[in-house]
Amino acid sequence: MDLDRTILVNRTHPVPEDFSYRIKLVKIPMDEENCILVEEETARAYQALQQHLIDSGLPNSPLSGYRSFERQQVVWDNFIRDHGPEYAARYVAKPGFSEHQTGLAIDVTLYDQNGNDIEDSCASEFETMHHILHQFGFILRYPAGREAITGYDYEPWHIRYVGIQAAEMIYRSQWTLEEYWEQKSQP
Ligand code: DAL
Ligand code: ZN
Repeated sequence: MDLDRTILVNRTHPVPEDFSYRIKLVKIPMDEENCILVEEETARAYQALQQHLIDSGLPNSPLSGYRSFERQQVVWDNFIRDHGPEYAARYVAKPGFSEHQTGLAIDVTLYDQNGNDIEDSCASEFETMHHILHQFGFILRYPAGREAITGYDYEPWHIRYVGIQAAEMIYRSQWTLEEYWEQKSQP
C-alpha cells in the first residue's frame, strides 16, 4: 500500500499501529557526531531544503525527527517533570499521538551569524523559512493563532512533510493540516 504522507496525526487521530512498519527510516546528520532518523522521502526533501536555506544565508540543522513510542514517552515525561503537565500539553504530544512517530516531522534549529541557536520564535529567520517550506513539500504544522485547530501552541521549528502538491495547497490556502483534511472529506 502506498504511504499517504498527508496522514493526520493529532490529539484525536493517533498514529496507526502499523505505521512504523510501513516507513523506511534513513539517517541524516544532526551534527558532526549525531544523526536523526527520518522517513526516506522526507529525508531527501529536508536535505534539499537544508541546502537551500544554507545557500540563502540561514544555517540550520535538524534537532529531532522520528521518535519511537518509547522515545516520545521520555520526551513527554521530561517535559512534565521540567515544566508541569499544563505547559507540557501545549507543546508535546502524548505517546501514540505524535507525528514525530511517523518519521514525517522534523524540528529544525536555525542559527544566527555567530552560530548561536535562534530562540526567539518571532525571529524573521523563522518566517523566511516558513515561506519556502512548501517548495520542498513541507508545511509549518503549528502556526501562530491556529492553536484551537491544531491543538498546540505556535512551534516555529516543527515542520511536517506532506509532499509538494499538498504543501502548495495548504500554503496558498493558509490552511492547517486539519483544514486540508476537512476540505478533502467534503463531498
Ligand atoms: N511537539 C509536537 C506536538 C509533538 O510532540 O509531536
Ligand atoms: Zn516537533
